[in-house]
Amino acid sequence: MNREIFKNIVILTGAGISAESGIRTFRDQDGLWEEHRIEDVATPEAFQRDPALVQRFYNLRRAQLKDENVLPNKAHEALARLESEWEGNFLLVTQNVDNLHRRAGSKNLLHMHGRLDRVFCQNCDEHWDHSENLAVDEACIACGRRGNVRPDIVWFGEMPYHMDEIYEALDKADYFISIGTSGLVYPAAGFVQIAWKARKIEFNMKETGISPAFHEHRMGPATVEVDQWVNEILTD
Ligand code: APR
Repeated sequence: MNREIFKNIVILTGAGISAESGIRTFRDQDGLWEEHRIEDVATPEAFQRDPALVQRFYNLRRAQLKDENVLPNKAHEALARLESEWEGNFLLVTQNVDNLHRRAGSKNLLHMHGRLDRVFCQNCDEHWDHSENLAVDEACIACGRRGNVRPDIVWFGEMPYHMDEIYEALDKADYFISIGTSGLVYPAAGFVQIAWKARKIEFNMKETGISPAFHEHRMGPATVEVDQWVNEILTD
């Protein structure tokens, strides 16, 4: 690839990139949404109705990030390597709420659906790092109010984070890469259309509903395909 021509790159990742690190995806066989109903655990209404259930769901997932077997894999590492050697603009946008991209060393990274290791207060909007279990009556570190602290996760029906910055990068993107996402959840599923001048490559185990919008498909496990592709473009 000629890096003189393709200089702005935007990469979108989804649950599939963390699957080989032992984190369950949402919509595959054995995915999280097979066991839980979205409207029970991942909406603002669910949190209002049954905060204990919602907190338990996220406490279990947050605890998993401390499991010594849950580590960044070769795909996360390849993207960090690509960023450090890329000569143009590089933006990594993830829908994932785990911390694996950061732990792999990615820097220009936006968590559009929030982060499991952060919480915020619905009363005063203070956000802070929190990697332990969250109690239903947790006190806010800023205003002190109890019962308003929630995971810093963008739930269904809420506005994802960093959208202005993401759309600006997509508009300028010469390369748009999608990795391990089913393309079913908007606005992320629409990014491929917004990156109007980009060469678009999709990495997935199988075809998705948005596959026709891509120029190129790399089918197979992200740890193999992404690592190989990064090696290819960095030696080109
Ligand atoms: N390598 C590459 N792709 C994979 C791998 C793998 N090892 N394993 C699974 N995949 C692919 C699946 O084929 C599927 O298309 O990853 C995709 C995972 O899709 P989803 O489970 O729907 O996850 P995602 O697209 O990230 O979900 C989007 O939905 O539930 C919400 O907010 C949540 O951010 C999430 C959003």
